[in-house]
Amino acid sequence: MQRDAPSFGRGSVTCRVAVIEGVGAYIPPTIVTNAQLSEQLDTSDEWIRRMTGIQSRNHNGVDSATSDLAAEAGRRAMAHAGVQAVDMVILATSTPDFRCPATAPSVAAMIGLGTVPAFDVAAVCAGFVYALALGNSVIRSQMADRVLVIGADSFTSIVDPNDRKTAVIFGDGAGAVVLGAADGNCGGILATDLGSDGSFAHLIRVPAGGARAFSSSDPTMFDNPYFEMEGKQVFAEAVKAMTESSKRVLKGAEWSNDTVDHLIAHQANLRILNIVADNLGISRDRAVLHLDKVGNTSAASIPLAMAYAAPRIQQGQRLLLTAFGGGTAWGSVALTWSNNYALEGVSNVGDI
Ligand code: UT7
Repeated sequence: MQRDAPSFGRGSVTCRVAVIEGVGAYIPPTIVTNAQLSEQLDTSDEWIRRMTGIQSRNHNGVDSATSDLAAEAGRRAMAHAGVQAVDMVILATSTPDFRCPATAPSVAAMIGLGTVPAFDVAAVCAGFVYALALGNSVIRSQMADRVLVIGADSFTSIVDPNDRKTAVIFGDGAGAVVLGAADGNCGGILATDLGSDGSFAHLIRVPAGGARAFSSSDPTMFDNPYFEMEGKQVFAEAVKAMTESSKRVLKGAEWSNDTVDHLIAHQANLRILNIVADNLGISRDRAVLHLDKVGNTSAASIPLAMAYAAPRIQQGQRLLLTAFGGGTAWGSVALTWSNNYALEGVSNVGDI
């Protein structure tokens, strides 16, 4: 579907905002059920469902890496928006194809976007919200008219398949949005809130492979290439940070909790989703639930959930996005669903 470019020019609008023009998503086709994991690990479908709400997740095949997932989600978002070009690509990921260079330039080349600026944002599970807030600023400041914001992660590349504490939780995937500029009357991104607390960096990390390992006298830093998470403490910090950040962004947007139509929180754990919704006084049935199908997909989690929910989101409705992840880092975004392009019938997001 081809759509006309928005009818604004640089400096021609008085209140310029960033709106979501299209959404796209891609998850690799290999589905791994709780029952399958229970054959390899000391776990059970009952434990995983009760403790996390997850029923299955998707794993990359041998021929697929983060850039492949990201490029496909990006292509789908651009097709949905009906655009062939963007001015910038921001990729949120903590599982880049290589430790150096960034993955976003490869993704831009794979989509055929020419020499646009493209860079990675590393805020683990909060990455997409960080990237979205950044894309919003880039558009508001008139540095760009259209930005492709992607969240993509391949956690199977860093999770120890024999560690039942993490292997049951994470899945691979990518989601993307096309952000465009529009007049303020169209709504769009109204408020953002970002934060971090590096004193909790040890709660979520991959010890090996970084500069710290090379400068450390601790040999275990070198030896462990796998992702580690202090689950219990992360749970508590996630609830606290997402609740408080959401409250700040609601205040920034001047929304009361009961006017939020869709709460799209980071899909880490159903129990976390429920507590955050309860803390905010937002009815649980307004919280989008997608983790049961795909697990925790880190930076892809929010755009995947958004693409999954998109057919049920109506023009002008209010969305509250909130995420928490390693760093630790967190963030929230308040936005109204674009009314300058019809987003109904998101048929090209794939089977998500
Ligand atoms: O994406 C970034 C944000 N991440 C999150 O928000 C994740 C937040 N954390 C969590 O969701 C939870 O901490 C988990 C679901 C990961 C774990 O729940 P928990 O209540 O923190 O459990 P736990 O790690 O303390 O483990 C409880 C018990 C332990 O056994 P013992 O020591 O009580 O005998 C674990 O060994 O459950 C055991 N256990 C398992 N049992 C069956 C841990 N993993 C499993 C498993 N299957 N997969």
